[in-house]
Amino acid sequence: MPFTVVSTRGPFSHERVGGTYRIRYSAGGVSSSISRLMDHEGGTWVCLGDGSGDQAFEVEDHGNYRISRVIIGRKETRGFYEGYANSTLWPLFHYFRERVNYNQTNFMYYEIVNKLFAETVKRNIDANTTIWVHDYQLALLPGMLRNDGIKNRIIFSWHIPWVSPEFFSLLPESRQLIQGIARADAITVHTDWYKTNFVNSYRFVTGSDDSIDSRVFHIPLGIDSRYYASKAKHAHYPLDRRDRKLIFSVDRLDYTKGLVNRVLAVEKLLSLYPDLAEKFIYVMAVNPSRASVRQYQIFRRELEFHIGRINGEFGNVNWMPIVYMYKRLGESSLISFYRHADVALVTPLSDGLNLVSKEFVACTNDGVLILSKFAGAAQDLKGAVIVNPNSLEEMANAIRQALTMNAEERAQRLAMMKGNVEKKNLTWWLNRVRALAARKLHENSS
Ligand code: F6P
Repeated sequence: MPFTVVSTRGPFSHERVGGTYRIRYSAGGVSSSISRLMDHEGGTWVCLGDGSGDQAFEVEDHGNYRISRVIIGRKETRGFYEGYANSTLWPLFHYFRERVNYNQTNFMYYEIVNKLFAETVKRNIDANTTIWVHDYQLALLPGMLRNDGIKNRIIFSWHIPWVSPEFFSLLPESRQLIQGIARADAITVHTDWYKTNFVNSYRFVTGSDDSIDSRVFHIPLGIDSRYYASKAKHAHYPLDRRDRKLIFSVDRLDYTKGLVNRVLAVEKLLSLYPDLAEKFIYVMAVNPSRASVRQYQIFRRELEFHIGRINGEFGNVNWMPIVYMYKRLGESSLISFYRHADVALVTPLSDGLNLVSKEFVACTNDGVLILSKFAGAAQDLKGAVIVNPNSLEEMANAIRQALTMNAEERAQRLAMMKGNVEKKNLTWWLNRVRALAARKLHENSS
């Protein structure tokens, strides 16, 4: 059964450089997972044309599938992407109440861009297509398609946390948003907590007691674990020297990822346990992200200030505790770090799932994963050292525990996690969604 997949972020965009075009690949787990699926499954991918040269590639055949881009102007980008999606919904759904921007004009642009997506989707379906919509940027889309008479199956996959009903109702547009999503035949989230929160939010803000819970499913996104494992077998050691333990992290630059707390935890580690100085090196790779949003620019300065301060205090000419890279790592470097890191730090303050944790598990042979209890993946990866990223001492002690853990415990923990990552992989996820798409149509679509 063919899918028309819809997400704001596509697989890549085209940047105009001088007189030519250069391809820029997207960061973020959702688009890389969908890319992999589309390569195998074919179909159409409707996404935002956010590159400076995308206008020339509005419709493009790429390998096995077709890309159909929604082109928007600067005003729409500001109101929809930088504004409502990433300065209102993003902080709200990650429990950053003080960062939520309430702005009706931005919501108007959110509606306009969702409508543009609806028009593009309509041009890219036939009677048998299942429409698979992704994430918080497109919450109004299922409702808009239904209002336009579209009867196809619609699956909606929500990739970020779903907050408690009271918190969700802070949003002035909460009713419109959840009613829009609820017009899909099936809704997927990554954990059973998010499912409970979604169902309760629906009842709380709409006052309705219909059978919404029978249409919401907890299906955590998986990775192509075999692909990562086979690439990792050939990965070279990524540093010059092997005499120190290697701690690694990779994240988009985002205040939800707990990056400042993480470097403060390294500071705490070195203060509590000075004997660990020069015994490890922490490689922190940070992917540039949402750099046009002011909150992200300020956050970057804050993070870099702390890294400089901590390196200045604890480092010397031969050793710096934190090696910081503000750039997107290529896949082979990334896999080398996953393969050879002794410890991976995945410590977001709030995260819908976090695929980095699963990629690390697939690639490593005997590494230790330190994982935040506030990442959705913590429900799946029980063998990780689970931490509360708000406690610097707890994090510092977890790092020490990981650095000194014996081989037997490392192996036991890793086996438990590999079992989950290999079983609940990307194919498992797709098959679960396919099964939803094959179910009887919901009354919304009739
Ligand atoms: O995983 C959540 C998510 O917002 C995706 O929808 C998105 O592709 C990714 O994070 C990266 O964010 P952005 O598309 O704004 O770069």
